[in-house]
Amino acid sequence: MKLKNILITFTIVLICFNCKKKEQVRGLVANKAMVVSARTEASNIGKQILEQGGNAFDAMMATDLALAVAYPYAGNLGGGGFMVYRLNDGSIGALDYREKAPLAATKDMYLDSLGNVIPNLSTRGAMAVGVPGTVAGVFEAHRKFGTLPIATIIQPVIDLANKGFIVTKKQEARLTEKRKDFLKTNKDTILFAKHWKENDKIIQENIAKTLVSIMVNGRDEFYKGETAKILAQFIQDNGGVITKEDLSNYKVKWRTPITFNYGDLRIISMSPPSSGGIAIAQILKSVEEYDLDEFGHNSIKTIQVLTEAERRAYADRSYYLGDPDFVNVPQDKLISDAYLEDRMSDFSFEKATPSTEITHGTIDIIESDETTHYSIIDQFGNAISVTTTLNSGFGSKLYCEELGFFLNNEMDDFSSKPGVPNVYGLIGAKANAILPEKRMLSSMTPTIVEKDGKLLMSLGTPGGSTIITSVLQTILNVHEFDMTMKEAVEAPRFHHQWLPDEIRMEPNRFDKETISILKKKGYTINEERSPVIGIVDGILVLADGKLEGGADSRGDDAASGF
Ligand code: DON
Repeated sequence: MKLKNILITFTIVLICFNCKKKEQVRGLVANKAMVVSARTEASNIGKQILEQGGNAFDAMMATDLALAVAYPYAGNLGGGGFMVYRLNDGSIGALDYREKAPLAATKDMYLDSLGNVIPNLSTRGAMAVGVPGTVAGVFEAHRKFGTLPIATIIQPVIDLANKGFIVTKKQEARLTEKRKDFLKTNKDTILFAKHWKENDKIIQENIAKTLVSIMVNGRDEFYKGETAKILAQFIQDNGGVITKEDLSNYKVKWRTPITFNYGDLRIISMSPPSSGGIAIAQILKSVEEYDLDEFGHNSIKTIQVLTEAERRAYADRSYYLGDPDFVNVPQDKLISDAYLEDRMSDFSFEKATPSTEITHGTIDIIESDETTHYSIIDQFGNAISVTTTLNSGFGSKLYCEELGFFLNNEMDDFSSKPGVPNVYGLIGAKANAILPEKRMLSSMTPTIVEKDGKLLMSLGTPGGSTIITSVLQTILNVHEFDMTMKEAVEAPRFHHQWLPDEIRMEPNRFDKETISILKKKGYTINEERSPVIGIVDGILVLADGKLEGGADSRGDDAASGF
């Protein structure tokens, strides 16, 4: 070899050696199928259904119901959710099983005679409850796409309820924190108000009985049968307004997901009544022209450009978004290139744009960790992404002992009064005002990502208003910053939502100098408000077709696959 060639080879080796990345950390890798959820028991039951030959939709029913048993903090029979799917033939869709306002609901139902919001009325107790959608949701997904018999799917969940689940350290903390609220909200003491400790076993015979009735009698047991009768009576006995008619009227809706391109990715996410898909589209499309990979992960420039796009998207969210069955949501315009270009036209890297200078754009038209997300990819190549919630942890704290489950406080996701923030600090307007049978605006963002026309990822998270920004950062972590699924879900997160005008950061996880420079540019940084931003669960399809699970260690989340 000539000296020149030797030198070139040496230089190349040296460069490669220097640029060799630090060892990547991967989550569980499986060959064919995977479930990632907030609880090991739920992921395992979902996986077991897949192993029996069931598909992602069969596993959805099993995982969802198992979360209601083993993760009553957010898993539920008394709440609702959204599911986005992509079948192995590339076809996509979304299921809306969000709660609805009862027939007796009114615009001012949470206001006193002076027009002020009555504290806690939309968050705690029977008045906070929206008509639950979960049972209808899992049955509808199964009706359309499921393959295994209902009994095969639900029996393992009933067994779990009868055998009991083991309390984790994090669960102990949550149960202890909410104990007082349980006692204040319920007439009698409830199962979950006992002094539960880590490693205790919680056996739930009552939810097991309810699940048996549902397994035998189907969806209508919950909406028209004995369970419906008991539930409506229970809510009314506790001062609520939900009737048997509300339950029997409840219907899920199949929706068309929001889809958009970001570089060579195609992102498929939840449409209204969730704000998730539109907001994530607005934010990602607004930052697409910037070289985020060159700026670097959580660098000053990356944080700035994302923050400014988020500020503008959340301002639009608060004004334009609501239930599309009741209000006209200008969704095509909101995510159009021209509109977003105009929205970002006053952005500068020099200094922050104060939120007082930002309002919603002009269009001519006519937030924590208390929800739960799971992702499933089956052995046939179908993917689903599901986020479900009671809203706050244990919802309204109202627990129907006889039926064995908590009821949601989703009514707080409506705007009780224009300009008055809800529990996530989100401000709403007329588009999200309360009306009978309307669905409250959500931030839940169950999302599926394709690359070059092939399935790449299924992901989502709890976190109220921070859901949207957590999901988009996780996508960017994989796509722009070359992280594995596990690294992407674990990376430190930040969040801006227009109002309050602050960047929330997970405490002590961001570079001090970065924070100090951002402050100099006019940004307010809050490291206290959100100790945890999102608990993201996702599945990544690797280059060799295997699946990598990203189960966020901010929770007790677990991946299970084969
Ligand atoms: O639908 C929503 O946007 C909220 N009810 C989600 C609640 C949630 O993520 C709770 N976690 N903080």
